[in-house]
Amino acid sequence: MKLTILGGGGFRVPLVYGALLTDRGEGRVTEVVLHDLDDSRLYAVARVLAEQAATVPDAPTVTATTDLDEALRGADFIFSAIRVGGLEGRANDERVALAQGVLGQETVGAGGIAYGLRTVPVAVDIAQRVARLAPDAWVINFTNPAGLVTEAMSRHLGDRVIGICDSPVGLGRRIATVLGANPREAFIDYVGLNHLGWVRGLRVAGRDELPRLLADPDLLGSFEEGKLFGTDWLQSLGAIPNEYLHYYYFNRETVRAYSEVEKTRGAFLRDQQAQFYDEMKRPDTAALTAWDRTRAEREATYMAENRETAGAGERDADDLSGGYEKVALALMRAIARDERTTLILNVRNQGALSVLDADAVIEVPCLVDANGAHPVAVDPLPDHATGLVCAVKGVEREVLAAAGNGSRTTAVKAFALHPLVDSVNVARRLVEGYTEVHPGLAYLK
Ligand code: G6P
Ligand code: MN
Repeated sequence: MKLTILGGGGFRVPLVYGALLTDRGEGRVTEVVLHDLDDSRLYAVARVLAEQAATVPDAPTVTATTDLDEALRGADFIFSAIRVGGLEGRANDERVALAQGVLGQETVGAGGIAYGLRTVPVAVDIAQRVARLAPDAWVINFTNPAGLVTEAMSRHLGDRVIGICDSPVGLGRRIATVLGANPREAFIDYVGLNHLGWVRGLRVAGRDELPRLLADPDLLGSFEEGKLFGTDWLQSLGAIPNEYLHYYYFNRETVRAYSEVEKTRGAFLRDQQAQFYDEMKRPDTAALTAWDRTRAEREATYMAENRETAGAGERDADDLSGGYEKVALALMRAIARDERTTLILNVRNQGALSVLDADAVIEVPCLVDANGAHPVAVDPLPDHATGLVCAVKGVEREVLAAAGNGSRTTAVKAFALHPLVDSVNVARRLVEGYTEVHPGLAYLK
């Protein structure tokens, strides 16, 4: 079985390859093709993968190419993990937004819109090529903003593209664990958009255990989301929000914290990874050791400003091990081998969340089998959550429209309608600022 990874020179590719190495089952991936625009990044990552495979018999073969069509042909699965504009682009997304006093996070608010605007045209081109060259392949989208990018691709690939994120899984695992339940035996009643969802229940042996958690301030304050949002607010909400909702519920504090840091997240990762890829150019570097050190530092500092604002302290050791690769592998196995399972994924709504239309990509528990991912119908969200979901989906639709018609006016509309952008004038200045710094937005006229 052939797996193609787009963005194959990306820093997190060794996580995926490491997960593949643990898979010894029949029908596993035997061939990995890495595609990237940048040769030196491919070379660096290939070195890490070679060290990972050194002690594993029958490790999947790895080849690398900068030819996209060649990479796509014959693929059974395609992981799309591209980053249009690189981490320099991410740092600029943050900088331009903060200059206007709004948030520039890569998936939330102005930063997410800017990143979406330059990623959608590239993702659409990939989707069209896949439809032509590998029509039977399944595409798993890792690229942020994951829900929006998946929806763009689904217009060309239908339900053969599925978006993934590890934050709902991590959230469900943490809740189950504090409740003393086995995460694998729990059904997580979670729904929303990517990075904009809520856990409303957690069923174990047919019983909803979430009320027990919400009633117990000690339990509630003992894990990441409890520390981030505070127990009082979680009890008021009666649900546990995805950690990215911290940017909404505590917007003023997070914007202030981000304005005060020496380096924003994107700038930190840009510099950290530049150093890693530089190190990889030296033939005597121990590749896997250097990669692992860099990875550990990245994990430890994830959402550091949010945690600082909330006084949440360090991350729990269990939260430091990533998770994307596990979701991707579980999804791929379920489809390729009909290993039926339930996963929270980004798929077309198809009526699962009645307030949105059938084609809107949402994040929702899905039954997965050889026929793909089937969203489970869920209870309606409360009004406050419905409001946010509909507002942000409306913004995503404007981003898709702007990417389609190339209109600056439509781009301004996308920014202006976002709940975290507080003036149409700010939206206008954001479009000016972003088009100045991002060559990938030159199509906006
Ligand atoms: C979480 C999010 C992802 C994000 C990742 C890394 O897993 O769900 O969407 O890509 O963290 O975040 P970072 O700030 O390290 O790039
Ligand atoms: Mn995510």
